[in-house]
Amino acid sequence: MLIKILSAPKSCTTLFTIAVTAAKRFGIRATGIDIDPQRIAEANDNARRNGVSHLVQFRQDDLFKANFSEASVVTLYLLPDLNVKLRPRLLAELKPGTRIVSHQFDMGTWPPERKLELNGRTIYLWTVPPRQGS
Ligand SMILES: C[S@@+](CC[C@H](N)C(=O)[O-])C[C@H]1O[C@@H](n2cnc3c(N)ncnc32)[C@H](O)[C@@H]1O
Repeated sequence: MLIKILSAPKSCTTLFTIAVTAAKRFGIRATGIDIDPQRIAEANDNARRNGVSHLVQFRQDDLFKANFSEASVVTLYLLPDLNVKLRPRLLAELKPGTRIVSHQFDMGTWPPERKLELNGRTIYLWTVPPRQGS
């Protein structure tokens, strides 16, 4: 769905905008996290204006402390070093099979399953592998 929206002619500028658009078009539920309160205020305002506050929530939090273990898909638009720093938590805490989508930045030495170029954006895809011994 992220890819479908990113490839739409009317481009979206942020992952938070994409979450609002996907909620409006497809009824998805999403939680967005950013440490910057201004981004959270803007995103929640956008959700309210589009009538999807019951579907998407944006909260100010530090990703390195937040609990995201129940997510079925994690989408990231961070920075290269933050992706790499977050990687051990993603692998340890997300359920095997959870999909991870990153806008623009890879995960260092963890090769993506797919890398797509869409409208000048690079999208990377991974799936959390089974835990060792399971
Ligand atoms: C490249 S910007 C992307 C912004 C926005 N997420 C978007 O989709 O357009 C990177 C974002 O990462 C956020 N960020 C940096 N460190 C963070 C952390 N520890 N926890 C949560 N967000 C963080 C910054 O506040 C910034 O908004």
